[in-house]
Amino acid sequence: MFEELNDGHVIKTMFTEHEHILCILNEIQDLGEQLSDKNKSENKNLLQQINQLSLQLISAEPHHQREEDVLFPTLETRGIIGPPQVMKQEHGLIRNLKHQLKKETVGFGNNWKGQVNSLSYLIIELCDTLRQHIHKENHILYPMAIQAITEDSQWDKMKIKCDEIGYCCFCPNDNQIIHPENNSKSIVGKCE
Ligand SMILES: [Fe+2]
Repeated sequence: MFEELNDGHVIKTMFTEHEHILCILNEIQDLGEQLSDKNKSENKNLLQQINQLSLQLISAEPHHQREEDVLFPTLETRGIIGPPQVMKQEHGLIRNLKHQLKKETVGFGNNWKGQVNSLSYLIIELCDTLRQHIHKENHILYPMAIQAITEDSQWDKMKIKCDEIGYCCFCPNDNQIIHPENNSKSIVGKCE
């Protein structure tokens, strides 16, 4: 359904970002599964890799911000109130889990085995919650938005606001915004 949308369409960009987020989650889960049967120094290495990936997940913030500040309010003006509210609540929960993952992968404390154990549970919870959330947005919320917002002019206005917020550094193809005044492109939302 999203393939038919123009490149740069608000929803197509969000869908593509979901694909990237799902890839990051697969990597995190894969590393998380390796934790339990490794020694401390091998685990230290895995911990660092998971920490880097947690930073990538946190850098998806512009994605959530575009949903919360542009897509959800537009849906609400069209009488679609409940689903955006639920998605916003889930964003809060997911934000906490991502930051917890970052904190718990900075390094080992005194009880590294206990830390590995709780980390394994945290990874499962984060991956399950975020995958389910993405599934709901892809299969319910985004199709609902495409059905409810039928005017191109409204999508154009939303795109301008989305460009102002910016894009995710892990999704370079979607970081380009078009400046109609001189038909040039620039990269926004790029992180170090
Ligand atoms: Fe999303």
